[in-house]
Amino acid sequence: MADAAKAAGKYFGTAADYPGTGEGSDPYYLAALANPHNFDQITPANIMKWVYVEPQQNVFDYTGADQFVALAKANDQIIRCHNLNWYNQLPNWITYPAVPWTNDTLMAALRNHIDNVMGHFGDDCYHWDVVNEAFDDSGNFRNDIWYQVSGPSYISVAFEAANAAKAKYGLKTKLYYNDYNIEYNGAKSTLAKQLVANLTAQGINIDGVGLQSHFIVGSTPNEASQASNMASFTALKNANGVNIEVAITELDVRTADTGSISCPSASVTVAVQNQQVKDYFNSVNACALTAGCVGVTVWDFDDTYSWIPSTFAGQGWGDIYYQPGGANQPLVGKAAIDGIIDGFQNVQPGTYA
Ligand code: XIL
Repeated sequence: MADAAKAAGKYFGTAADYPGTGEGSDPYYLAALANPHNFDQITPANIMKWVYVEPQQNVFDYTGADQFVALAKANDQIIRCHNLNWYNQLPNWITYPAVPWTNDTLMAALRNHIDNVMGHFGDDCYHWDVVNEAFDDSGNFRNDIWYQVSGPSYISVAFEAANAAKAKYGLKTKLYYNDYNIEYNGAKSTLAKQLVANLTAQGINIDGVGLQSHFIVGSTPNEASQASNMASFTALKNANGVNIEVAITELDVRTADTGSISCPSASVTVAVQNQQVKDYFNSVNACALTAGCVGVTVWDFDDTYSWIPSTFAGQGWGDIYYQPGGANQPLVGKAAIDGIIDGFQNVQPGTYA
């Protein structure tokens, strides 16, 4: 997959939850992750999130995250660093402060976090998801701690701080906004475009927009709508007069699977599996055909360790490998892998399953 991506001028990567997890000691999982023909990019699924790197105010702990960076380097993979600002997986000192936050105190904490974390990782981060999931699904700002205390201006503060860290440490890392349900033209995608336009109008730089792409088999936006949505982002200019880039950052295609993770339930028919191939193809091919789409990342690659079943009850079988024998046993690649390769090669997928 990474070879096909490279030939198309893109990267292909995966999220990985490492270290300190089951997959972190599964030799078959780790071998598939390390294979450069599979992945030339990785994203930490958790270990760079706020709760892990700044568990107490101004006490930074990079132990796990540094191991993740070392793994990526050993595997010769670039890193999309994830994330600097989100409403989820925050430490208690942010969510339940001893003294209520004011705009000034919360924004000072945000600036300090961004300066410290970006300074620590430097250009080991190819991209940074600076702000993650700022909007809700009804087309409003998400009513989270950031918005409640500071209103929408926290987004500008976060990007301002990230640009300041780039200047201070002399970094090339690219700054992204990342969200879901912005993969097709609609209210939420419009909000994300407004976010870019607002930053640009204020002279604050943003380099890219991450399209998460957590999809449901057969209900995925079609390829034309994904491509035209990408084009509407890449037509926008940032404060430096450069066009915005896009990336597919968290792709998975879940099914109504109530089976065990080591084998699909009867509901995952051959037709469903072929639809999943086509769905993976559509997203990858939309990226392959969009000059400003720089790469595709799947959110976990192995059903055994997927975030899907614990988040969406009764759903699963969304990743591109599975382990028929369970954890610590050989991986089997799904037909979806062919859909991904075909997507990068711009060859219509056949039926595989
Ligand atoms: C998920 C991780 O995969 C899980 O392990 C964790 O329990 C919760 O977060 N959108 C994002 C990611 O931007 O950070 C989320 O990752 C999945 C949804």
